[in-house]
Amino acid sequence: MIIIPGPASPQLGRKVASALDAKVITIAFKLFPDGESYVRFEGDVRGEVVAIVQTTSPPQDAHLMQLLLMADAAKDLGSRRVIAIVPYLAYARQDKRFLPGEAISLRTVAKLLAASGVDELITVNIHEEESLSKFPFPARSLSCMTSLAEYLKAIGFEGALALAPDEGAVKLALEASSILTGGYGWLRKVRDRYTGEVVTKGEELNVKGRDVAVFDDIISTGGTMINAIKILREQGARRVFAACAHPLLIGDAEDKMLRSGADGIIGTDSVPSAVSVVSIAPLLAKELAEAER
Ligand code: R5P
Repeated sequence: MIIIPGPASPQLGRKVASALDAKVITIAFKLFPDGESYVRFEGDVRGEVVAIVQTTSPPQDAHLMQLLLMADAAKDLGSRRVIAIVPYLAYARQDKRFLPGEAISLRTVAKLLAASGVDELITVNIHEEESLSKFPFPARSLSCMTSLAEYLKAIGFEGALALAPDEGAVKLALEASSILTGGYGWLRKVRDRYTGEVVTKGEELNVKGRDVAVFDDIISTGGTMINAIKILREQGARRVFAACAHPLLIGDAEDKMLRSGADGIIGTDSVPSAVSVVSIAPLLAKELAEAER
């Protein structure tokens, strides 16, 4: 298997390759002055199984386009099989028509990947597992929640409550609680589909004097986490950490969360950021090694 670190995930791609002791083929990449992407394979992929590592964090559309260019070129250059490793899969949250007339964005992405020659997709903590069925080829989502929890345990969070900031994240908190061993809980969140505003209900959580780690798939504007952090602070939690798979941290999300009372924020290198302290390279390498057997 050959690993192709894409322009959006150069370090992660190399880490996966070194964990697997696999050959790397680099991509010569440039952005033209008008914003168009250019890619060129700097090695021969003929007859090979290639795994392209390319996250699709902002700028999502450019990163997605680069992935499509790489997949199509890999196939055109004679690759036997193209595996797209897309840790953060853009558009995954728009996996259905919530309001009349909306595009089902994830389905469009799935069609584009298939048309570009992708044979298989591996992603991480996709927003809804069920949406993987939209892909016309094998697609699976790995979870990094226990890796995040292991990190927190190592810095003294053993016994902390693992909290989901909404009902969609309960499974994530449950997974994390298997490492932190302090139980799990969740909050109820309602999002206004027109304005995007989120309201979180302040349930009684019994967190007085306890450490709490809040687990979610994505931190984007930080709004979801901030609501949870404020509730935890009001209820007397001791230390509060926010943990996520994909730290998009748009604008001053990180600052706003810290100002709201978070003691720390951690994420993975699915999306390179200042808080990406946990690497998903071992998780991806293990999956690829098993896929090869
Ligand atoms: C949606 O429910 C997701 O799981 C996240 O909670 C959401 O995308 C986070 O976005 P934000 O940080 O903007 O609240």
